[in-house]
Amino acid sequence: MTGQAKTSFYVTTPIYYVNDKPHIGHAYTTLACDVLARFKRLDGYDVMFLTGTDEHGQKVEKAAQDKGVTPQDFTDSVSQNFRDLTGQMNFSNDDFIRTTEARHRAACQKLWGLLLEKGHITLGSYAGWYAVRDEAFHTETELVDGKAPSGAPVEWVEEPSYFFNLSEWQQPLLDFYEANPGFVGPESRFNEVKSFVRGGLRDLSVSRASFSWGVPVPGDDAHVMYVWLDALTNYITATGWPTDGEYGDAEGYEMRWPADLHMVGKDILRFHAVYWPAFLMAAGLPLPKRVFAHGWWTNEGEKISKSLGNAIDPNDLADEFGLDQMRYFLMREVPFGNDGDFSRQAMIHRMNSDLANDLGNLSQRVLSMIFKNCDGVMPALPAEPRDEDAALLASADAMLDAVRAQIDLQAFHEALRVIWQVVSDANRYVDNTAPWGLKKTDPPRMQEVLAVLAEVIRQVAILVQPVMPEATSKMLAQLGVPDNARGFDTIGGALRLPAGHVIDKPEPVFPRYIVEEA
Ligand code: MSP
Repeated sequence: MTGQAKTSFYVTTPIYYVNDKPHIGHAYTTLACDVLARFKRLDGYDVMFLTGTDEHGQKVEKAAQDKGVTPQDFTDSVSQNFRDLTGQMNFSNDDFIRTTEARHRAACQKLWGLLLEKGHITLGSYAGWYAVRDEAFHTETELVDGKAPSGAPVEWVEEPSYFFNLSEWQQPLLDFYEANPGFVGPESRFNEVKSFVRGGLRDLSVSRASFSWGVPVPGDDAHVMYVWLDALTNYITATGWPTDGEYGDAEGYEMRWPADLHMVGKDILRFHAVYWPAFLMAAGLPLPKRVFAHGWWTNEGEKISKSLGNAIDPNDLADEFGLDQMRYFLMREVPFGNDGDFSRQAMIHRMNSDLANDLGNLSQRVLSMIFKNCDGVMPALPAEPRDEDAALLASADAMLDAVRAQIDLQAFHEALRVIWQVVSDANRYVDNTAPWGLKKTDPPRMQEVLAVLAEVIRQVAILVQPVMPEATSKMLAQLGVPDNARGFDTIGGALRLPAGHVIDKPEPVFPRYIVEEA
């Protein structure tokens, strides 16, 4: 490193409601962020990756009541489940925020103060429908068969409330979208957001007075802040804002805000792409650079729901199929942004075909031949590569740019497809060059072929690290690549795997899933 400051990359997950156990949907959102965070770190960025829990609001208060415990005790215990999940899934988050923390209360109250001071919040009264499950307000006309559009039950609410003048932000939002065509991905979702805003915005109730589990409205203890205003603020709290407050960190805020990416599920895009930018504009704060909305998982074709009791526990999946295998499946199986179905059959297929057969066999075969036929000494690349060598090395060297471009679009499935294309090129090269036959006929050529393959496997393993950190760490160790030579500055043709070091007997990294005969 030259001592030059690295570029910052700040990525966030939604913060999870603590009314429920973590399931596959939660793990999915955080996994996508983890892959991005790991990718950017390897690509030389100074990354901040934030996740956490959303602990206030009527839904959580009710869940605590149902359990007969205080909301604080309840949130302490459920929040811990989400914190534990980060370790279990090997997530590399740099911070874990809880909205019940003092640093967050301070940020919420500061934001409220700014909105009030600038005249964007006024006291009025709310009369309308409220969906506790979504923590969202609805008009009569929005209801579908007496329920929220999401299917959540609604209740009638009539109480004094502070309002944010959202209606006045319609044009500024449309102008902002126009000026920032990459603000929301995928594009189809951006179009939905734009047409929603074009349809007109109503002022938004931003306080509740009929329960108390929330951040108190400064100067009016009868109200707590609307849980979405509170929750969205977490993204800026964690950077050290407000910088002049007790928990302020001017350097952190300057470096991290605005966020590079808020990753969210499609169900909560409106809060992130409409309300949040409006709050920030009104407060005079910079807007996040991008929001990406991913799709939803179903379980063997069925919607995942508490009432069906069909939530998939990510730990069960990891136990049965392997953690890295599950991480790979979730990122590869479904085009990121689309809905997807979890099925055991598809999981087993990916595990056996892409991992055990394509990548696992390639690596195991090549390393075993080096171990057995070259006395375990890493052979040297050909001084004069043949066309077939040059072609394969060129396709490996081209991966970095192609993968980076896909990752920057959050097209994780495409990034993996690009890499597996090279894996399949390498497998074809093995078939064509048949190194096992060269052992007798042309040992120097065998060495060249194995060296080309080892170099390709090195680049593949380095690029796959963000998705499968454990498995690729084993692969790289087997190739003799030290920890400090696994960054993206070593691939794309910049460096080659050196020759001459001795490797250990290779062990298979990707086991097959054996389906028991009925
Ligand atoms: N607390 C709010 C977010 C506040 S962010 C300022 C919330 N929490 S949540 O726990 O209900 O959902 C968190 C995320 O999990 C959402 O992005 C949601 O889309 C995602 N998922 C929940 N179930 C899911 C699936 N079945 N499939 C994929 N993701 C899903 O909303």
